[in-house]
Amino acid sequence: MSLPLDLARGLEPVERSNHEFQRRAERIQPHGLGLSVDLYNPNLFELVQALQDQALAFGYLELFKASEAGLKEVKQRLAHVPIAFHGEGLWLTQPDFIGRPQTELELDATLSQLNILGCQWINHECATKQMAGYSFGTYLPPLFTRTAAEVVAENARSVQARLDRDCVDSVGCAPLLLLELPPWTYFGVGNLDVPLFFRVIAEQAPCGFVLDIGHLWTIYRYSGAWQTLSLRDYVARFLSDFPLERVVQIHLAGLAPHEQVQALSDLPLWIDAHGASIPPLLFEMLSQLLASDRLTNLKGLAIEVDTKEIALIVQEFGQFHARFGGWQPASGSNRTSEQADARRGGQVESRPAISDAERARLQADYRWYAQTAAGGQTVGADSSSLEAAIDRAMLPLYRDAYLPYEILHWGGDLRMMFPETSRLLDRSGVSLDRFVPFWFREPRVSDEPYDFFLLKIGRFVAFVHDALPWADEVAAQEAADLTVAYHVACEQVG
Ligand SMILES: [Fe+2]
Repeated sequence: MSLPLDLARGLEPVERSNHEFQRRAERIQPHGLGLSVDLYNPNLFELVQALQDQALAFGYLELFKASEAGLKEVKQRLAHVPIAFHGEGLWLTQPDFIGRPQTELELDATLSQLNILGCQWINHECATKQMAGYSFGTYLPPLFTRTAAEVVAENARSVQARLDRDCVDSVGCAPLLLLELPPWTYFGVGNLDVPLFFRVIAEQAPCGFVLDIGHLWTIYRYSGAWQTLSLRDYVARFLSDFPLERVVQIHLAGLAPHEQVQALSDLPLWIDAHGASIPPLLFEMLSQLLASDRLTNLKGLAIEVDTKEIALIVQEFGQFHARFGGWQPASGSNRTSEQADARRGGQVESRPAISDAERARLQADYRWYAQTAAGGQTVGADSSSLEAAIDRAMLPLYRDAYLPYEILHWGGDLRMMFPETSRLLDRSGVSLDRFVPFWFREPRVSDEPYDFFLLKIGRFVAFVHDALPWADEVAAQEAADLTVAYHVACEQVG
């Protein structure tokens, strides 16, 4: 049981963090088996109908950030369904997170969406799409260092304070912030093991975690652990070090190879792919995880299904239901996290606040990370300690194949977005591939809320101005048409 707040105040910081989490977690209703979904793709109402047609009951939906009009319609049409929230755009891994105008805008939007839905938790990837002025289309995990974990904890405390102040869930409490174990896309960087990174966060912030099984597989694959450990042994070791008492939700989603990346060995080069089918070995990993007696605050299991065919979702949710339908979520723990920690022995000691020098060092390390991932010159960043902590053999898969595809095709194919401008560039001998180094040529810090599609439009217009100035007007007209159509599409629901 959790202690009353006035008693908890006298505890050591680590114990206080555990008590604070426990107090919040005990208020969260058991959610059961659910789906983590996107409102638009596939259409949520068609998906719900298809599940109902097959008599497949679900306990909740975790809804990805969408337009407010769309969320209001969900709340109205699915009034009986508990809704959780999957946020986006809160770059909690970054040392300049607190106080930035972009953060404030994203927080305002997030709080507003949470209040529409009345969610008991907000889940956000412990990862970022923007760092040190460089923007990416998909998530990059944090630097796995102790200072980086402490910065995440500091930012998580700050977000939770805003949730406490300005947000109310369906039972009159503040939603709990959950951070999700991020996927690795061919590489990760750092000198702290991933589960220990999350232990540092847990000991300094009262947040919960989402354990994504597919993401865990990518860490096994791209950390090199597969070279010395079987998957089962790796998962066992990971789970013994990870703060499982903080896991509030589990995700299960598809994995697939990238179309631009060829397999080098028998072990597949899968990456996170929500539109792809769920490999059977992830169900085995989930069974191994659920056998743990330390999942004392687990409230929901969800398959994550955006950009996926409805027929495949229904089929996989049916399998999920058949295999895990008997699982009972925690309804309130009678064993506190610190008891569980004591049982396992050892706690990471608490420490003073992050110094300005440490923050500046970490900011430089993130600049080095972004420039290294993008294949640019690592200007002004001496991060030699991290040089040894990056797998240079795997990095090219990201830098030379995945990332150019992301900039040129993913989330908006440039030739389809700008057909007339692309023709002018072709005729003038300007290769579209030059847009990739242009994108990463220098840092461009933005205070706008993150939107990869709008970023792409703006950067492409700037690229055309740089590479073929006489085509400016054509590019500007296509950009204006795209922007209007995009905003209209974002407001359309159901
Ligand atoms: Fe996930």
